[in-house]
Amino acid sequence: MLLSRRLCLLLVALVWAMPVAAKAARGAAQAGIATAHPLATRAGEEILAAGGNAFDAAVAISAALAVVEPTASGLGGGAFWLLHEAKSGRQILVDAREVAPGAASHDMYLDAQGQPRAGVTLNGPLAAGIPGAPAGLVHLARRYGRLPLAKTLAPAIRYAEEGVEVTRAMELGLRFRAADARGSPAFAALYLPGGKPVVAGDVLRFPDLARTLRRLAGAGRAGFYEGPVAQQLVDGVRAAGGIWTLDDLARYAVIERQPLRTGYRGMTIVSAPPPSSGGVAFANVFNILGGYDLAGLATVDQKHLTIEAMRRAYRDRAIYLGDPAFVTMPLDRLLSPFYAAGQRTSILLDRATPSIQLSGLLAEAGEGTNTTHFSVLDPRGNRVAGTMSINTWFGSAFIAPGTGVILNNEMDDFSIKTGVANGFNLIGAEANSIAPGKRMLSSMSPTFLESGRGVAILGTPGGSRIISMVLIAAQAWADGADARQMVALKRYHHQYFPDAVVYEDGAFTPEEQAGLEAKGHELELSSRSYGNMQVVTWDRATGRVEAASDPRGAGDVTVY
Ligand code: GLY
Repeated sequence: MLLSRRLCLLLVALVWAMPVAAKAARGAAQAGIATAHPLATRAGEEILAAGGNAFDAAVAISAALAVVEPTASGLGGGAFWLLHEAKSGRQILVDAREVAPGAASHDMYLDAQGQPRAGVTLNGPLAAGIPGAPAGLVHLARRYGRLPLAKTLAPAIRYAEEGVEVTRAMELGLRFRAADARGSPAFAALYLPGGKPVVAGDVLRFPDLARTLRRLAGAGRAGFYEGPVAQQLVDGVRAAGGIWTLDDLARYAVIERQPLRTGYRGMTIVSAPPPSSGGVAFANVFNILGGYDLAGLATVDQKHLTIEAMRRAYRDRAIYLGDPAFVTMPLDRLLSPFYAAGQRTSILLDRATPSIQLSGLLAEAGEGTNTTHFSVLDPRGNRVAGTMSINTWFGSAFIAPGTGVILNNEMDDFSIKTGVANGFNLIGAEANSIAPGKRMLSSMSPTFLESGRGVAILGTPGGSRIISMVLIAAQAWADGADARQMVALKRYHHQYFPDAVVYEDGAFTPEEQAGLEAKGHELELSSRSYGNMQVVTWDRATGRVEAASDPRGAGDVTVY
């Protein structure tokens, strides 16, 4: 039952991501925005036009997405925003990831026999971590922005009050979450009026969410983490079997982290450190690949080596990575070129390494996905790559009455038991086990690519596949691809377990496919396209800015 629901969630994500014509804009311009929804792009434009910087635009876009794309992110979730501040050259990862509630415990999702309880990490308030997104928005605005929150949250409040059209993605998502949503009368009242899911073209208004946004705009973090909203959240969660407390909300803290940097073929990949697994995985993969003369190899061998590097990076993710406040990770070793050299000795050019032969973990299976990403560059050169999530479609499908806030189901990103797969089929170990106040490991990977050519700002939703999507796009940028080509690339992915290469139709030529199979790779054609990448690039020589939104999604871009 659980597995089939997870599969359904994945199907929704993939159906929604069907190919359409690539959307891109280019021109001799200085600012660029790419987001997953036209109204979020308009919100960013409005704020730049009002004199805001990229950080103000990031606040406006993130808040707008919480209203217009409620399947993917929102005030009830978390975020990583990767910032580049032009005046100082400083780069910062603003970590607004959710944390486990204070009453959470190591085995809270296991039954008396030590087996996972079905559905509890995905549905309802017990699946929800303490949200970080609202605190992150306030942090971004106050520390880096030029405009008050009342201004930057205004577009989101307007959308919530005036109403937004239900998208096809929302309609499809609801079809599969309807049964879960009935456990939340506030969610059902909004999205299943009279017991019937809303459909594309309907207009939804969000008065409760607008009120919560106004409180955030007026009182800053206290408007969400204290006072009436906090009380409504805790009352709603606890009445439905959750474990949040007012103290959990009051204690939530945003953390600024140093991004991780990896050099590869003349470019620097700047991305998120733990509790994201993205930056470490990129270092792992690109340090391995940097030891080969890829350009001198046949494309089938290039792809084989990339898959083998992915396999090893995801193995290390499963074993070593977690919240740095709780686990000691061997990052010096994992990030070292000598470690990559050792990894290369285990890679054969003519043969796939069965994952089972790498020391590591075994897995049980499951599936599901959703998140969102945007990229912004302002005329001063400030940049933001923002990836935000409530985890799977509509998060936990639970709204605490009166708040309008859909709670995340990010607790599923913890390893609830060593070797048991989560909704993305990812396995993990003790490093990512549950503890009170701990951040769950993430794959969200907002990224900058920097080289003599210029800059690319990118990221995507897609759960465990985020990392492989971004790294394939980074390889393409190193090969000269532009923004539009990066978002349209056909994708392939290996995550150690399951031991299979999932690929989009067209990712491999028939010859490459035959060559990879001859080396022993199990290839699994993805029934649909996946991901929703948003890219903004700046060309150093010409100053030209380009922006592109994934042709698989319904996003929009602007350049001016
Ligand atoms: N919830 C998806 C991720 O953070 O990886």
